[in-house]
Amino acid sequence: MTVTKLAPGIWSVGVVDWDIRYFHGPTYSTHRGTSYNAFLIVDEKVALIDTVYGPFRAELLDNIQEIIDPAKIDVLVVNHLEPDHTGAVPTVMEKCPNAKVICSGKGKEGLIAHYKEDWDYQVVKTGDTIGLGKYTLQFVEAPMLHWPDSMFTYIPELALLMPNDAFGQHFASNKLFDDENDIELVMAEAAKYYANILSPFSRLVVKKLEELQKLGLEIKMIAPSHGIIWRSEPERIVEAYRRWASGETEERVVVAYDTMWGSTEKLARAIVEGLTAEGVATRMFKISVSDRNDIMAELLNARGVIIGSSTINNDLIPVVAPVLEEIRGLKPINKLGAAFGAYGWRGGAVKSIEKFLSEGGVKLASDAFTIQWVPEDEELEACRTWAADFARKIKEQPIDS
Ligand code: FEO
Repeated sequence: MTVTKLAPGIWSVGVVDWDIRYFHGPTYSTHRGTSYNAFLIVDEKVALIDTVYGPFRAELLDNIQEIIDPAKIDVLVVNHLEPDHTGAVPTVMEKCPNAKVICSGKGKEGLIAHYKEDWDYQVVKTGDTIGLGKYTLQFVEAPMLHWPDSMFTYIPELALLMPNDAFGQHFASNKLFDDENDIELVMAEAAKYYANILSPFSRLVVKKLEELQKLGLEIKMIAPSHGIIWRSEPERIVEAYRRWASGETEERVVVAYDTMWGSTEKLARAIVEGLTAEGVATRMFKISVSDRNDIMAELLNARGVIIGSSTINNDLIPVVAPVLEEIRGLKPINKLGAAFGAYGWRGGAVKSIEKFLSEGGVKLASDAFTIQWVPEDEELEACRTWAADFARKIKEQPIDS
């Protein structure tokens, strides 16, 4: 990414990672790449807000050098210690060894654990400020959004919020701002990011949004550390977070399944027919040919989730487990769920599915639908009826958060 000016004396100096297709090791698919945003403020003091993933350290230094000698950095703010933002911290600190490293208490603990360096740390708390000259850095702790160390940096003179991971998206673009990009694509990636990273912390997101309001922080621009910068419509992403975090859902059901010899697939198709007959929108995913992070993104706005599996070894087929593990871990809120599946000699899969769903906070709305062997016509009709009944529950029961 070329260096881009955000405001007088403030530049984006981060990098675009066009090629990354899995983030957090193999845990998060990034079909559209990502970026590691960092921000340089040249005032009476020089501040760098966050750095980039280690392999991009040279590009970061080149970008800073376009504006100012990195040795002149006085203040390095580390909003979050995960290596995609701090991998380049040691390299930056080699250039400006006397710079203060500003972070939360947990941030200091994690930085020392990761990099074993005795830098000049300054731990900050919510409300603390550092004057740079014309601009002020104000800090807001944001623990568990999404790590215990996370914090936001705010510049009141510009109403500019730099919240690191929050409000971000894995979206690579040579255009930095919301109004320069296809906003529907950006929002789809923001939803996927929320569903797969922030979903377990939704109650904290609600509280943090309320806290920002109470602090009276006007927000004209949001510059997260991944993806595009919200300068045209920052309220669009704030409102989306409010919706996602408070568990607002639509009359929509995600059906995800896999099958050994096709019987469970026949049931899945009958379920979609039953939901459709009741006018409920649905997306069906055969898990072995789908991306589980995309399934979780689809589930964000859905009110229902129906999971199906054939039975093997008295349990679900292993390919279904990763989606259920994501549901159990990410705990999507306000969902009704159900299980289905066909079995041969002996069943068992639906019990496991129901256990995973319950542990993920999904409320079981119907008894599991299960049949032995290959579904007969009347069994498929019963399956359609079962799905239609589930659809009516979806329509009748907007769930409390
Ligand atoms: Fe973008 Fe939590 O790291």
